[in-house]
Amino acid sequence: MPDLPVIYVLNGPNLNLLGEREPHIYGRETLSDIEARCVGAAGGEANIVFRQTNHEGVLVDWIQEARTQAQALLINPAAYGHTSVALHDALKALSIPVIELHLSNPATREAFRHRSFVSSAATGVIAGLGARGYALAIQAALDIIRERA
Ligand code: DQA
Repeated sequence: MPDLPVIYVLNGPNLNLLGEREPHIYGRETLSDIEARCVGAAGGEANIVFRQTNHEGVLVDWIQEARTQAQALLINPAAYGHTSVALHDALKALSIPVIELHLSNPATREAFRHRSFVSSAATGVIAGLGARGYALAIQAALDIIRERA
C-alpha cells in the first residue's frame, strides 16, 4: 500500500530451514509462519518486505537497497552476524533504525556466537525470545519511525 512506512525484515543463512533445523533451539515455526507474525504485528500500519538468503553479498545488496526503500530494517543475520565486517559496514551506511534479531540468545551459547559484528551497527537487539521477538521488533520499529516523523 502506498504511503505506509516500509520495514525490511532480512534473514540470513540456514533460516530457510526453520521448523526443521534444531527445533529445540529455534522452535517449530517456519520462516513463513514468522513472516505472517510480522505482517500481523504491523497491523496494516507498515508494508513488510520479508526476505531470506544464504549469501552474504545478497544481504549486503539488500541492506544497501534499504537505504532508499525502507524506513526501518530488521535483520537476523544468523551466522554472518558473528563473522561479517561487510554486514557491519553496510549497516553503518544506513540512517534508518536497525534492529538485530536472534531467535536464540547467542550469549548463552558457544563462545563463537558471543561476538556480533551487527550489534555495534544496530539501534537495538532482541535475542532469546523465539519467533515472538520478530513481532516485538516490528512494534519497536513502528514506534521509532513515528517518533522520528
Ligand atoms: C541465530 C543465532 C546464530 O548464532 C545462528 O548462527 C543462527 C540463528 C538465531 O536466530 O538464534 O543461525 O541468529
